[in-house]
Amino acid sequence: MASLQNEVAHDHRLRRALGPINLTMLGIGAIIGAGIFVLTGQAAAKYAGPAIVLSFVLAGIACGLAGLCYAEFASMIPVSGSAYTYGYATLGELFAWIIGWDLILEYLFAASTVAVGWSGYVMSLLYDMNIHIPPAVSAATGTHLIEIPTALAAACKMKSGWAPISDAVLEQIKAVGTDPTTLGHATAIFNLPAVLIIMAVTVLLVIGIKESASFNNVVVGIKMLVILAFIGVGVAYVNPANWHPFIPEANGAGHFGWGGILRGAAVIFFAYIGFDAVSTAAQEAKRPQRDMPIGILFSLGICTALYIIVSLVLTGVVSYTRLNVPAPIAVAVDSLGTSVSSWMGPVIKIGAIAGLSSVILVMMLGQPRIFYSMSKDGLLPPVFSAVHPRFRTPWIAQILTGLVAMLFAGLFPIDILGELVSIGTLLAFAIVCAGVYVLRYTDPKIERPFRTPAYWIVCPLGVFCCFGLMINLPLDTWLRLVIWMAIGLVIYFAYGFRHSRLAGKFSEEK
Ligand code: ALA
Repeated sequence: MASLQNEVAHDHRLRRALGPINLTMLGIGAIIGAGIFVLTGQAAAKYAGPAIVLSFVLAGIACGLAGLCYAEFASMIPVSGSAYTYGYATLGELFAWIIGWDLILEYLFAASTVAVGWSGYVMSLLYDMNIHIPPAVSAATGTHLIEIPTALAAACKMKSGWAPISDAVLEQIKAVGTDPTTLGHATAIFNLPAVLIIMAVTVLLVIGIKESASFNNVVVGIKMLVILAFIGVGVAYVNPANWHPFIPEANGAGHFGWGGILRGAAVIFFAYIGFDAVSTAAQEAKRPQRDMPIGILFSLGICTALYIIVSLVLTGVVSYTRLNVPAPIAVAVDSLGTSVSSWMGPVIKIGAIAGLSSVILVMMLGQPRIFYSMSKDGLLPPVFSAVHPRFRTPWIAQILTGLVAMLFAGLFPIDILGELVSIGTLLAFAIVCAGVYVLRYTDPKIERPFRTPAYWIVCPLGVFCCFGLMINLPLDTWLRLVIWMAIGLVIYFAYGFRHSRLAGKFSEEK
């Protein structure tokens, strides 16, 4: 542990440019995105009803517990590897590798997931502006699409443009008296806008951390304004009758009742992911010991408050039964009458696009910094820790991250990617909570600039809550997690085990 702290003090290759405000903005940049702009409505309509507010509170508590543990580690070991490094310091190399490999699911896959959501919003905005991108290059490979003209979109409360065909979409179209066979159909080959946004973000991140942080601040400002505008305008239109019954009666496992609140919490957990990304910028923070806990806990606290208020307003303005759509906030805005929706509709779309861009940016910023730490420990080849001489960014790892993220974003749909991101992140959070507990015993004297209060209850409760949410994710997602981890172990024994710094030490001793 002492050697890790010493190493940080002497590694000046990355530029220390970020203060507490930039770090908090980085956290908010990563947090507010597809979760609130896309998933909230579906979770309310399908699982929790107006009690989605309680799902947000529950997921917020789980994240708060994990956030306290992250704050302790990030102030104590301000290294860019985040949970990977904390695992390395507390649980050893194999565990660290497992966490590092798992974090790819969180960072790289989240960037791809949100890029797919971004593509959906951009395509819809362009469609409204009469700019038509061929549907063949607008969605995941093999997705069957149907054209929703702008007038029909308003009638059936959907985004205009090309939408993936599903039973729910067909029903919505039929419900307004339109025959779906009369609309345009297409099959997608790949998702070009999702690939292009990742490419653009990669270029920005290679150029510099300071430029990236400034861009992030502007984008975060826009999305906060849009969310505050929604709350400010929407609150006047709340009809308390929409909150009754607040917890709709249970209707099958995970559908409404308390089971539905838990299932809803597992789904909207995605909305909270990202506060931990602050910790990957630890080596670029001016005063990490003080500012890491500020960045992590402030961003999480601000977003939790916003989410609870947005979900109250959303379910107060329209009945939850109408929210099973890809753009629930837009639906709520439409219900406010044309005088409001005519200006607020496009504003929400622009806010969502801005919001999703900054999530992609911060996730793409985090991933190569974790690779950087893994490479310095010898678990990945040295190219992953190459720093650009002029830009002082881990540029090769950044470009490789970008290429892989582009591949996933281009080929896979949002739901498969999103649930993998959630399960991977929950696993990392649980390990971090356990790690804080372990280190309090194994190394009680080490300096802890930030101490998790009542760690004896916060840490076990954090682990419990994370597993509680994981159990509410589908079996398919668990299987994908197991397969991903198995691939990771093969790579570890084929490369990391032999090339790691620890392996080097043992062979020197022999
Ligand atoms: N929390 C991020 C989002 O909702 C990942 O997009």
